[in-house]
Amino acid sequence: MIIAVDGPTASGKGTVAKALAEHYGLKRLDTGSLYRAVGLAVLDAGGDPAELRAAVAAAEALDLGAIDEHRIRSSAAGLAASKVATIPEVRAVLRRAQQTFAADPKGAVLDGRDIGTVICPNAEVKLFVTASLKERTSRRLAELRDRGEQISFEELQAQIAERDERDINRKESPLRQAPDAYLLDTTALSIEGAAKAAYAIVDAAIARRG
Ligand code: C5P
Repeated sequence: MIIAVDGPTASGKGTVAKALAEHYGLKRLDTGSLYRAVGLAVLDAGGDPAELRAAVAAAEALDLGAIDEHRIRSSAAGLAASKVATIPEVRAVLRRAQQTFAADPKGAVLDGRDIGTVICPNAEVKLFVTASLKERTSRRLAELRDRGEQISFEELQAQIAERDERDINRKESPLRQAPDAYLLDTTALSIEGAAKAAYAIVDAAIARRG
C-alpha cells in the first residue's frame, strides 16, 4: 500500500506521515528532506540554489543515507530547498530517487508536495494536509526556537508565505491537492487528533477497496 501525504510547510504532514508509517508498518520518505539537502549542499559550496548547474550537480551527488537531519532543518535550508525545487532538472533527478523508494513491494508512506499528483499518482490513499498560515508559523517557530534559531514571528510568517507562493505557483509540479486526495485540516487538532483522523481516512479507504 502506498500512502501519499502532501501539503504546505508545517501543516503537520510530516507528523501525520510518520504516525501512518508506524501504525501500518510501512517505511517512510520525507521528500522535503531531499530538496533541503540539495539546497544546503549548494549553499555549503558557496553557490546559488536558484542556479541550474549547481543545483543539478548537488541533486546528482545526493546520498540519501548521508543527509544531515539536523542541518537541513534550518530556515536557510528550507528557503534554499524551495528554490532548487523550482528547477525541472532537479525534480527529475529527485523523482527517480522517490519512485525507487516507493517501488518497495510492501509499499511506503511518502510526504511532500507532489506525491499524489506526480510521484505516486496511483497511490492507494492520498491525503492533503493543511493548517492556517498563523498556526503553521507558530509550529515552525517553536521548532526553530528549540534549535536555538532566533527569528521573529513576522519574519518567519513572511518566509513561509514566500515559500507557499513559490510552491503553489511554480510551473513544474506545483503544490496542489490531487482530485482524489482527502483533505485533513490540522489547525485545531493535536498531534494525536491529527493521527487518529488520518488512520480513519486510511482505514475507510482500505475498507472501500475490500
Ligand atoms: O516539506 P519541507 O518544508 O521540508 O520542504 C522544503 C521545500 O522543498 C518545500 O518548500 C518545497 O519547495 C520543496 N519540496 C518540493 N516537493 C516535495 C517536497 C518538498 O518541491 N515533494
